[in-house]
Amino acid sequence: MSERRPRVGVTRRLPSAVEVLLRQRYDVVQHESPGPLDAMALVAMMREVDALLPTVTDILDEAVIGAGLGRCRMIANFGVGVNHIDVPAATRAGMTVTNTPDVLTEDTADLAMGLMLALMRRMGEGERAVRAGTWTGWHPTQFLGRRLSGKTLGVVGLGRIGRAVAHRAERGFGMKVLAWSRSRRRGSEAGTRIERVNRLEQLLEASDVVSVHCPLVATTFHLIGKPQFAQMQREAVLINTSRGPVVHESALVEALETEMIAGAGLDVYEEEPAVHPGLVGRENVVLLPHLGSATVESRLAMGMRAIENLEAHFAGRDVPDRVN
Ligand code: 8YV
Repeated sequence: MSERRPRVGVTRRLPSAVEVLLRQRYDVVQHESPGPLDAMALVAMMREVDALLPTVTDILDEAVIGAGLGRCRMIANFGVGVNHIDVPAATRAGMTVTNTPDVLTEDTADLAMGLMLALMRRMGEGERAVRAGTWTGWHPTQFLGRRLSGKTLGVVGLGRIGRAVAHRAERGFGMKVLAWSRSRRRGSEAGTRIERVNRLEQLLEASDVVSVHCPLVATTFHLIGKPQFAQMQREAVLINTSRGPVVHESALVEALETEMIAGAGLDVYEEEPAVHPGLVGRENVVLLPHLGSATVESRLAMGMRAIENLEAHFAGRDVPDRVN
């Protein structure tokens, strides 16, 4: 008699190569429709599977985890950020939680650089004018932006993605890079000219571009709010490719309205997919729909990494990317 295959609940449609491999290895319970599952549907899925493969749009809070308790012992998240999962609650419920680090670092860093360029060089405004048919031809003083090369970048959160952004800025754009992180490690960054500062304020005061790369945890919620905007230069811009709630969105709108800062490039929002109405109409912001890891390469690798974690879990081995 053949052994029962582990049952894995997959909450969203994934790249087809990932889905094929999942189906080869597991008894897959697939949520088919395009939108995310609501809490009740998540609970129902959890109760019938041995492992769940969720994404950032699945809110696995204490109530869902509690109600979904059954045979599920593994949450193999598709993505690096796990702020949508109550990890302590999952731990108490005896569940292993994993994520997919590394594989999306380069693409997320590329996107942060793209936002910097788009904002500083007013690409969104220009593109909108071309599409609207309001562009009247080349003009010596039209859409003058500001040079990114050689400016000072402040990296808030010097983890994998923060470092990848710092290296691009330093090597590719000749920028001076300052960095601040909560878990300040001593010593300089080997092989780089990244200058670590002790206080966030020092970074905010000195940077032309501030780029946020820390995870969303209790201590980073609204890390960048009104007092921090007040510390930034009036000509400075803010980039956020981490998580929306790290930036106080209404304080950001106020800072833009009162010209405390010159612009913002955002890939993430406090209440996704809602975007603060005070951002939508502004020319000096670039707004992207959470695209950080949205490349064929990253999304495939994220799926494969989640499968590696599932494989290790079901084989009784140490999972490579445990977060609890
Ligand atoms: C993912 C992300 O698209 O990995 C992350 O933390 O924010 C994104 O790049 C998303 O999390 C997929 O679930």
